[in-house]
Amino acid sequence: MKSENSISKLIKGYKPGYSLEQAFYKNPDLYKKEIENIFHKHWILAGHISQIPEVGDFFLFEFANESIIVTRSKDGSIKALLNVCRHRGSRVCLEDKGNAKAFTCPYHAWSFDLDGKLIAARYMNDDFDKSENGLHRAHVELAGGLIFISLAEHPLSLSQMQDDLADVFDQFGFDNMKLAIQKTYPINANWKLANENYQECYHCAPSHKDFAKIHAMALNPAKFDQQKETFLKTSESNIRTKPSSFYFDLAKDGQEGYQYDRNPLIKGMMSGSKGGKPVAPLLGKLEKYECAASEFMVGPVTFFLIYDDHMLGYRFLPTSLDECICDLFWFVRGDAVEGKDYDLETLTWLWHETILDDEKIIIDNKKGVDSHFYKPGKLSDMEAMEQHFLDWYIKSIS
Ligand code: FES
Ligand SMILES: [Fe+2]
Repeated sequence: MKSENSISKLIKGYKPGYSLEQAFYKNPDLYKKEIENIFHKHWILAGHISQIPEVGDFFLFEFANESIIVTRSKDGSIKALLNVCRHRGSRVCLEDKGNAKAFTCPYHAWSFDLDGKLIAARYMNDDFDKSENGLHRAHVELAGGLIFISLAEHPLSLSQMQDDLADVFDQFGFDNMKLAIQKTYPINANWKLANENYQECYHCAPSHKDFAKIHAMALNPAKFDQQKETFLKTSESNIRTKPSSFYFDLAKDGQEGYQYDRNPLIKGMMSGSKGGKPVAPLLGKLEKYECAASEFMVGPVTFFLIYDDHMLGYRFLPTSLDECICDLFWFVRGDAVEGKDYDLETLTWLWHETILDDEKIIIDNKKGVDSHFYKPGKLSDMEAMEQHFLDWYIKSIS
């Protein structure tokens, strides 16, 4: 009761236009509420179908206290099974990826098939009903080859996003991409500080020297607006430039939030790479480099940046109140061959460097927010998306 009171007091004291009070990052009960109201409710990127091409292939998708086995079942469909044994709760699958015919719990050896159905339970009485004791399943939805998972009993709908962005998925060939590499970056800070940092490019010029050489959005706002206007006027491309803004508090009732936009890169920069040079074969229906990149987000913690020749995915997940991870996914065209069409070091260079910059600024931010003297500070106009995130966040925990 006392804790509920302190959370509602905190929410009541929230001032739009300012950063959050320190206690939003420190309160363990609030963290529990965030897990329940945000991470158990919204759609999150789990991975890509190219990670599990064969029947029985699986990988684990994990955050906070949860572990989910994402697997390809016998009929070729993708299943998401809660990695919690229906006997006494042990983790059933301990490998983070692999191939299995069935999942056998290491504790007392109950065995579950690729759909999560209980197929063997040693020495249980005759009246024990195996059909009632399968692994719990999470909802799965695909967008192209991207695998999204929702732990909600009744998930938000992705139908608006799927209909609206069907042309984008087609133009960039979402059905025909593959995951080139995924890297995980642990960050010693509350997940919101990491997610908030990704919502604004106010920090891009001072904090990301390499990124700022490539992306026009790191320029001052007037210059960026001018470049964007010229880009929109002169673009003859078949790639969609029309934005869709249904993110965070702008999402329609019952629908998952999402966003799409296309922005120019700095003149002459063709990709998100050293010197803006091409790093992989052009995606989808692109016929030439357009010196632009598209942004796409689904739900509150999954973001994509689509260059003409590769796509970057981001995912921010809490591991505890004070720690989170940022997962980076690099996607290339499905038929691209490593070593011939792309090289992992060249492909990953810019965003590996950029996330290391981000990790540093996020941790420095956390140190300041932890101070006795920290007070919420005024946001700039360049932090409009951060404002949407904060407004949505307050609603989500209220
Ligand atoms: S906890 Fe899994 S078989 Fe007992
Ligand atoms: Fe950044």
